[in-house]
Amino acid sequence: MATALEELRELEARALAELAACTDEGALRAWHGRYLGDKGQLKAALAKLGTLAKEEKPAYGAEANRVKGSLSAAYESAWEAVRERALTAELEQPGIDVTLPGRTWRRGRLHPATTILRRICRIFAEMGFQVYRSREVETEAYNFDYLNMPAHHPARDMWDTFFTTTPGVLLRTHTSPGQIHVMRAAGGRPIRAILPGMCYRNEAISPRSEIQFYQIEGLVVGEGVTFADLKGTITSFARRLFGPQRQVRIRGSYFPFTEPSIEVDIDWPADDPNRERLTKGTGWLEIMGAGMVHPKVLEAGGYDPRRVTGFAFGMGPQRMLMLLHAIDDIRLFWQNDLRFLQQF
Ligand code: PHE
Repeated sequence: MATALEELRELEARALAELAACTDEGALRAWHGRYLGDKGQLKAALAKLGTLAKEEKPAYGAEANRVKGSLSAAYESAWEAVRERALTAELEQPGIDVTLPGRTWRRGRLHPATTILRRICRIFAEMGFQVYRSREVETEAYNFDYLNMPAHHPARDMWDTFFTTTPGVLLRTHTSPGQIHVMRAAGGRPIRAILPGMCYRNEAISPRSEIQFYQIEGLVVGEGVTFADLKGTITSFARRLFGPQRQVRIRGSYFPFTEPSIEVDIDWPADDPNRERLTKGTGWLEIMGAGMVHPKVLEAGGYDPRRVTGFAFGMGPQRMLMLLHAIDDIRLFWQNDLRFLQQF
């Protein structure tokens, strides 16, 4: 009859032989259960220790420990081998074409409206203007009254907007209410600021008008600010944005918050094939409204119109972008059509 020690060694030999035949994870786990698990054969063999004669115990115990170590080590390296085989098999699989181009990250970019806004802000920053952010949800007082448009003033019709359910609170129709905010924040000190931001109007949407669009307002207030300063600033800006050769033309106009009020045109390059269409045959294109700040507006901002003067202007940067890139439909800006956006 085989001795206990011999049985142990047979167990080891059998286990190792079976392990050698395990070629996948499932087989390995099953083998572990059979030999090293809680109900495995090695546990059973160890339990046998108690039934042996005293003098046999030390040798049996030592041998059992050695077998346990041997099987555990063999089990670990069998796992290694299985993992390696799986990896090799995967790499050798036909169907991986390593010459295919990889999947690259698609680079995002800024929206063209953001880009033009930043370009314009940079030009004015070079001229010493600060950027002032003003709210999009406004009160009727700021959007109209402080700008010299009391209730029932007919000019309010030109700036029809969306009203909130709170009486007197609306979406601003222009960045001009920001003039009052800047003046009140500046507390009587001289001002040279631009105010970029979103505006809203209740309009029938067409290729030329949207219900939301960007504007950039400019405001300069101080002692001795003249109409010549306005002309110089606007001309310098127009030449930096549209090219050093541009001519600027000024036409009389009307805004309740400026006096006198003007509209500013630039001449369009004679060699541009779109010139006729863009300028409707005149050769001139309107780029902004402007004027000297009305005394009542200065007063509303806390300034004394007998001591200081100022000029203001307002432009639509998206319109400028349309001019620069011959875009003929303003609705393209917020449609999120990638075919349009990816061109910039
Ligand atoms: N707020 C005017 C508009 O929306 C533009 C403007 C701004 C005109 C400042 C004069 C001075 O049309």
